[in-house]
Amino acid sequence: MNPNLNKLQPYPFQRLRDLFAGVTPNPAYKPINLSIGEPKHATPALIQEALTHNLAGLANYPTTAGIPALREAISAWISRRYQIPALDIDKEIIPVNGSREALFAFAQAVINDSRPAPVVISPNPFYQIYEGAAFLAGAEPYYLNTLPENDFAMDFDGVPETVLQRTQLVYLCSPGNPSGKIMSLEQWRQVFELSDRYGFVIAADECYSEIYFDEGNPPLGALQAAHRLGRDYTRLVIFSSLSKRSNVPGMRSGFVAGDAKVLEKFLLYRTYHGCAMNPAVQAASIAAWNDEAHVAGNRRQYAEKFKAVTPLLQDKIEVGMPDAAFYLWGRTGIPDTEFALRLYRDFNVTVLPGSYLARKAHGINPGKNFVRLALVASLDECMEATSRILRA
Ligand SMILES: Cc1ncc(COP(=O)(O)O)c(C=O)c1O
Repeated sequence: MNPNLNKLQPYPFQRLRDLFAGVTPNPAYKPINLSIGEPKHATPALIQEALTHNLAGLANYPTTAGIPALREAISAWISRRYQIPALDIDKEIIPVNGSREALFAFAQAVINDSRPAPVVISPNPFYQIYEGAAFLAGAEPYYLNTLPENDFAMDFDGVPETVLQRTQLVYLCSPGNPSGKIMSLEQWRQVFELSDRYGFVIAADECYSEIYFDEGNPPLGALQAAHRLGRDYTRLVIFSSLSKRSNVPGMRSGFVAGDAKVLEKFLLYRTYHGCAMNPAVQAASIAAWNDEAHVAGNRRQYAEKFKAVTPLLQDKIEVGMPDAAFYLWGRTGIPDTEFALRLYRDFNVTVLPGSYLARKAHGINPGKNFVRLALVASLDECMEATSRILRA
C-alpha cells in the first residue's frame, strides 16, 4: 500500500467520537449538534425541480469538462459576483463534485514529487483535506498558525526562505474555516508577490464566500483581488461550491476557476481520475448559479442566528462576530476537549474542540482552548444550545 496513507490523521469527527466514547449525554435534554459544518436550511425547490426534471441525462456519460451551459452559468456568476471580465469557459472553468474532492485532487495534479521534498503551505487550524492532499501527493505540509494575536491571518513573513523555495502549493481559505476571517487586498498582494517569486500555485478555497452578513459588502474573492491589482490569474485557482451557498451539501457541486495552464493539466488529471459531474446535477447547478434570491434568504437566516447568539455567548466565552461563514470560533478559558466533553455529558450539546482542527506547529496547537460552533441548526435550536452553554 502507499506508505503516505499512514500519514493521514484521524478526521476531527472521529476524534470527537473517541472523546465521547462511553459517555452518556444527559437524557433530560434533546441532542443539539453544532459540531459539523453541514448546512441545514431547506434546499430551494428550484434546485430540486431542475434535478428531477433532468433525470433523462442519466442515460449519457457526462464529460469531465461538463456541458458548456453549466460553464456559462458559472462564468456569468463569477463576473456578476466579483465584477471581473467573463472567463474563458473552455479554459478557465471546470465543474467539480464539491470543493472537497477538487481541493484534494488539485494537489495530486500540481505537486511535482521531486527532491528536496515539496512543501504545501496550509493555514492552521485548517480544513483537513489540505493536509491529506499534501501527504498523498508526497509533499510536506508547512503550517501557518492563525491566531487572535495576528487577527487570524497567515503570517508569511515568518516563513523561512528555505521553506518558500520548496513550496509548490499554498492553500488559502477566505472566508476562513474556522475563524470566518476574510483576506484583505493587501494580504492577497503579498501572497501573489510570493507566488511570483517562488513559483508556487495558489489554491483559494472560497466555499464560504456567499455566507456573509452585510448585503452591500460581499467578501473579496481571489480572482477579484488579482483583477483589482492589475494582474492576470497566473498560478491562481479558486474553489467554489454550491453546498453552503444553496444548501445542497448532498448534491456535490462546485467549480474551480482561474489559471488556464494549470486547469488544462487539472482537466487531464480529472479525465483519468473519472470525476465528471452527473448530468442531472449539472442541470440543477445551472439553476442554482442563476438564482440569487434563495442565497440572500439563506444569508438572512444565518444573520438572524448570529445576531441573536453572539452577544449572549460573549459574556462567557471570548468570541466575536465573524467576517463571514457560519462558525463561531470562541476561546473557552478551559481545555477545549474538557469544554466539549462537559457540554455533551451535562447538556447534550455537541461542539468541536478547536485542537482537533489544528496541528501542533511552532511550539503550539493554535486551536487549543478554542471551540467551533457551527450555527447550522434552526434559530430555536441555536438559542437553546446557547442557553445550555451559558448554564454549563
Ligand atoms: C473550508 C472548507 N472547504 C471546503 C469544504 C468542502 O465543501 P464541499 O465539498 O461541500 O464544497 C468545506 C466543507 O465543510 C470546508 O469547510
